[in-house]
Formats: sequence, structure tokens, C-alpha cells
Amino acid sequence: MILVIHGPNLNLLGEREPQIYGTLTLSKIDEMIDTKAERLKLQVKHFQSNHEGDIIDFIHENRHDAKGILINPAALTHYSYALRDAISAVALPCVEVHLSDIQEREPFRKRSVLKEICLDQISGEGVNSYLKGLELLAGHLGDAD
Ligand code: DQA
Repeated sequence: MILVIHGPNLNLLGEREPQIYGTLTLSKIDEMIDTKAERLKLQVKHFQSNHEGDIIDFIHENRHDAKGILINPAALTHYSYALRDAISAVALPCVEVHLSDIQEREPFRKRSVLKEICLDQISGEGVNSYLKGLELLAGHLGDAD
């Protein structure tokens, strides 16, 4: 099972700055992830929270059942050492994804404190960032088996 995690403010997708994040709602994005996961024969468990600690608790609670993490950490990307430590602590392969291209925006967004501990960072491809991230995890898990 793969944990699919969406960080702060992603619950507002669809109405939140559509010129940057697009018009798809989070439930539509989750639906598209489910379709892709089925094709890849992966089970997924979705979670969105605006609270850093709740995301960390979710990772801890699911650490024994999960095989990997697909996460859009949203703004936590840029400063959350606590989230970074949680991902390192559970030692699950993780892919960091972003809808927008974080390299082409404000300077504070260029830095990810998570990138180093993730298999990869996929950014700027809208919902495809998630779908590619899931493919990458599937390939990684396939190789590991
Ligand atoms: C984001 C990019 C982050 O910088 C921002 O804080 C978000 C969304 C993205 O998906 O493009 O909330 O992770």
C-alpha cells in the first residue's frame, strides 16, 4: 500500500490560485491517482491535512502497512525538518511531487528540505507530477521485489 499525502491548503484546489495550480479539485486528483494505481496494481491510502503533526502521525500510524509514500508536502516542503525526520524515521521510499514548477516561482520555494531523502522530486506537471511519481514508486518497488 502506498500512502498518498497532500499537505496544507491542497484541500482548496480548484478554487485556490487556479492560474498556478490548475482547476482540478483534490477529489478529482485523488480519483485520477486511484485509476493509475489500479493500472499499476498498487493499493493507495489518501490523506490531506493542514496540520504538520497530523501528517506526521498519519505516517507513523501507517508505517508497518505501507510500502512507499507519494507526497505533495505543499509549503512544508520548504521548512519542515519534522516532516523530513518522520519520512527518514519510517525508512519508506518516498517521492516528492508538486503541481507547480517550484524552481520558477518565488526564491523561497526553490529549496526543499525533503528532496535529499526522497527518491526524486517531480514538479511543474500538474496532476501528472503525481501520476509520474506513482509510476516511479511502482518501478522502484518492482525492482526491490
Ligand atoms: C506546491 C508548491 C508549494 O510551494 C506550495 O506551498 C503549495 C503547493 C505545488 O503543488 O505546486 O502549497 O507544493
